[in-house]
Amino acid sequence: MMEPVYLDHNATTPLRPEALQAMREVLEEVFGNPSSVHWAGSRARSAVEAARAQVARLLGAEPETVVFTSSATEANNTVLRSTALRSPRHGDHIVTCVTEHPSVRELCQDLRREGLRVTELGVDSDGILDPERLAACLDARTLLVTVMWANNETGVVQPIPEIARVAAAHGVPFHTDAVQALGKVELSLREHPIEFASFSAHKLGGPKGVGALYVREGSRFSALLRGGPQERRRRAGTENVPGIVGFGAACEAAGRDLCERSERLGRLRDRLWNGIAAAIPEVRVNGSTTARLPHTLNAAFLGADGETLVEALDLAGIAVASGAACASGSTETSHVLLGMGIPPEVGLGSIRFSLGTDTRDAHITRVLEVLPEIVERVRGEKAQ
Ligand SMILES: Cc1ncc(COP(=O)(O)O)c(C=O)c1O
Repeated sequence: MMEPVYLDHNATTPLRPEALQAMREVLEEVFGNPSSVHWAGSRARSAVEAARAQVARLLGAEPETVVFTSSATEANNTVLRSTALRSPRHGDHIVTCVTEHPSVRELCQDLRREGLRVTELGVDSDGILDPERLAACLDARTLLVTVMWANNETGVVQPIPEIARVAAAHGVPFHTDAVQALGKVELSLREHPIEFASFSAHKLGGPKGVGALYVREGSRFSALLRGGPQERRRRAGTENVPGIVGFGAACEAAGRDLCERSERLGRLRDRLWNGIAAAIPEVRVNGSTTARLPHTLNAAFLGADGETLVEALDLAGIAVASGAACASGSTETSHVLLGMGIPPEVGLGSIRFSLGTDTRDAHITRVLEVLPEIVERVRGEKAQ
C-alpha cells in the first residue's frame, strides 16, 4: 500500500518527537498540581515555568507575558470579551478584518449584536489589509484593533508591524491572532506595539487543547475564566501541565529549524505549484504569492468542485483541505476567498495544500502523479 500523504498542516500537525518525549516524561513522573507548595507541586511548577520560557523565546517576548490557555479560540475570546467589558465607559468600537478566523469573527458578530460598533475592514485581491484604510476608520471611541498575522486558508501574511504602529499612533490597543505565524515567521513581539497575541500548540507540532495568550506588560486586561489565582490571575483553572510542556518543547524545536524548514518547505511548495501549473489547465493561486507563508498553497481549479477534489484525493491517500468550506461539509464559499473578491464559483473550486516538517519530496511527487487525472475527472463530472 502507498504511504499516506498529509498536506493539511494548517488544520493540525503531527506531534513533534521532542514534544512527545517531553510530555511522556511529565505524564509518567510529574503529576503534582503546580499550585501546591510541596515537592510534587514544585516539580510541576518548574515544568510549567520552563515551558513558559521556551514559548516566550519563540515569541521574542518575556516569559511573564505568556498566559497559557486551552486553545487559541479561548485566547481570542478572552481578548474580545475583556475588551467588551471596557464598553461603554471607555469606548464602543472594535476594528477587525474580513479574513479573520471564526474564533474572532463570530465573537465580533456577537459583540455587534450586543451593541458595540464593529468595523470589518476589507482586503485587496492579494488578501492584504492596507494600513492606511485602518488609520481612516479609527476614532476616539475605538477600543481594539484585531487583525490576524497569517491567514490559515491562504497563508497570506499581513503587514502586522505596520498595522500595529498605526493602531499605536492612535492610542488603540492591538491584538493579532498569530496562530499560523508562530514557528513559521520571526515574531519578535517585544519590538512591536502589540498588546495581545493568540497562539495554538497543535499548529506547530505541539499537542491539541493548549494555547497561549501574549499580554504585553501593563496592558488593560480582564480574565475570561475566573476562579483560582493561576497564571497570575489572568486565567483560572489548574494548568494542563503535560500539554504546556509539549507546547514548550514544540516551540523550542520549531525555533531551532525555522529557517532551514521555511526554505525547504518553500521549495517543495513551489515545486508542487509549478507541477500543477504545468500539467493542469485553468488553475490559479489564491492570495499573494510573495507575502505568504512558505508552506501554504491555496489553488483554484476552475470548473471543478473543491469538496469533490478533497474526497477524490483522500481516496488516493492524500489529505488536503477544501479552500471553499469554512467548516467541513459546508458548501459555502469561504469568507476569506470572497473577501479577496474571488468569485464564488472560483472559491468553490479551490483547495488548500499545507506542508509541514514531515513533508518529503516523494509526497509532492505522489500528488503530482494523481492530481491531473483527478481534476480532469472531477471537472468532467461537474460539466455533466
Ligand atoms: C488562524 C487561527 N486562529 C485560531 C485557530 C483556533 O485554534 P485552536 O484550535 O487552538 O482553538 C485556528 C485553528 O484552526 C487558526 O488557524
